[in-house]
Amino acid sequence: MADESLFTRTAGLVERELQRLMADAQLPPDLLEATRYGVLGGGKRLRPTLVILSCEASGGESGSALHAAAALELVHCFSLVHDDLPALDDDPLRRGAPTLHVHSGEAMAILAGDLMLPLAFHELAGGETPPEIAAALVKELADGTKAMVIGQVFDTLGGMPAELSPEDQLRLVHRNKTGALLRTACRMGACCGSASGETLAALTSYGEAVGLMFQVVDDLLDVTQTAEHIGKATGKDEALGKLTYPGLLGVERSRQVVMELQDQAIASLDSIGSAADPLKELCQYMALRTK
Ligand code: IPE
Ligand code: IPE
Ligand code: MG
Ligand code: MG
Ligand code: MG
Repeated sequence: MADESLFTRTAGLVERELQRLMADAQLPPDLLEATRYGVLGGGKRLRPTLVILSCEASGGESGSALHAAAALELVHCFSLVHDDLPALDDDPLRRGAPTLHVHSGEAMAILAGDLMLPLAFHELAGGETPPEIAAALVKELADGTKAMVIGQVFDTLGGMPAELSPEDQLRLVHRNKTGALLRTACRMGACCGSASGETLAALTSYGEAVGLMFQVVDDLLDVTQTAEHIGKATGKDEALGKLTYPGLLGVERSRQVVMELQDQAIASLDSIGSAADPLKELCQYMALRTK
């Protein structure tokens, strides 16, 4: 069975890239400290792992995916810092440590989160990436980030189309707030690996299934795990009145949904062959993860 070691190589590569990027950022000391706190030294680094593995599945080398991987992780870190703010989920704990607004105050957390966005897009525009690939990556990341923000608005403020059933509303929230950046990860990796149209389509379908699956598992962890184990507060979705899979469908049905999405994700990769095996393994790990 797949385990956390799946991430060792890719997480190490992205950690180094993020360290370099923060060292080059030229920031006032307090802003640098807060931004480093929100970006470095924690997290599974799942999204950059998807970028790198999707690039490799498309026939590219990991080195050509590092800018994209780091840029996407910066957007993810920005989303977490803002997600935890008192105005959103009001969470005190993230990645096993106090959240950035607890550590540095709310104003700095808002501003350091804001800063992660231009750092991400600067990272895509710099370096030796051919201009047409850089432009495609900018568009992918902008579209994924926009969808994430839309999802966070639905999650926090509602406003989903009233004609949708509760389950379709829930799917819409999850596809946007979380699924979109995982789909983007796979598509950015495909871009970096100069994937064929067929491979890009396969990776997109995989990213969509895995993206939704990932948030269903996150909802399950909120009701089945302890804060010590997952490094963030638990039991909070119900307390905040969030629309979640276990809340709407129950734990058992939610677990079945995870398995259905896992099978769908793995089947999407058929046309790629053995180059996609690491993505299959990663998907199996994400379906069964406990943190
Ligand atoms: C947490 O994402 C936020 C969600 C979208 C559910 P992760 O579980 O990938 O968080 P880190 O990066 O590993 O901390
Ligand atoms: C987070 O969803 C989605 C984003 C950060 C965009 P959650 O609010 O469920 O994530 P956690 O549980 O706080 O990590
Ligand atoms: Mg949230
Ligand atoms: Mg949250
Ligand atoms: Mg959650």
